[in-house]
Amino acid sequence: MKQDPKAELRVISRTEPPASKLNDSIVVLTAGGAVLCALVFAVALPLGGPLPLYGGALSLGLLLFGVAIRRYFTDRFPDIEAIELREIPDPDHADEPLSDVEALGPRRSFLKRALIASGALFGIGIAAPPIASLGPAPGGTLLRTAWRPGVRLVTNEGLPVQPDDLAMGGIASIWPQDAIGQERSSVLLLRLTTPPVAPTNLDWVVDNVVAYSKVCTHAGCPVALYREQDNALFCPCHQSTFDPSRGAVPTFGPAARALPQLPLGLDDQGYLVALDDFQAQVGPAFD
Ligand code: FES
Repeated sequence: MKQDPKAELRVISRTEPPASKLNDSIVVLTAGGAVLCALVFAVALPLGGPLPLYGGALSLGLLLFGVAIRRYFTDRFPDIEAIELREIPDPDHADEPLSDVEALGPRRSFLKRALIASGALFGIGIAAPPIASLGPAPGGTLLRTAWRPGVRLVTNEGLPVQPDDLAMGGIASIWPQDAIGQERSSVLLLRLTTPPVAPTNLDWVVDNVVAYSKVCTHAGCPVALYREQDNALFCPCHQSTFDPSRGAVPTFGPAARALPQLPLGLDDQGYLVALDDFQAQVGPAFD
């Protein structure tokens, strides 16, 4: 049968440490100082204050908060001398405590609340600038580009393009009409010498002209080169190679996904337009 260690505990002496106003004052002052330093840090960092100011505030705040915690636990436990009668040997109770010493409670309740409050404020002050510096959430902007139904494909000079503007085997860098220079929307327009095959979406091909995102699906470099002799789009950053006649699937290198194909069509004046945005994620995958 299990023995209750408390039943046999005989307290010989119990000395409670005297309340130390000095110690309590140190806890309050250092915790308050830590909060003050956190506020200085929270204000100085976003406003571009000098490094010694917000760095010093952060260091001093951490130091003061550490001192507050340390001093809070100073003289927190009573000094108890007790004995417990046990049968020896008693392997079943070898790991039980000889006594349960409870920390001093009531006179520390104010300090405890003060320390918790200052810890919360200190944490908020320290965490606020880095969190605020993350900026607004991107939302769905990383999944969209400037391509929308009816947007014309234009050259660097803003000129709209017709299929015949490209020679057989020719290639051009193309932008959305209203977003020239927006890299995530840049496309490579190719006029293939032979009709493309699956997995190319043939509904999005006009007179052997196909358009693919120019942003490499490996790490986002521009896929800037086309080797006509082996019909390969080539990314110079890490040598990923894509086959434009088969949906721009990767055929070599670290890229694991095909370059997204832009749905192509013609407007009533015979110019190439997008039928929609890309239907696959542009650039390196992040979800
Ligand atoms: S970014 Fe294109 S291969 Fe790495």
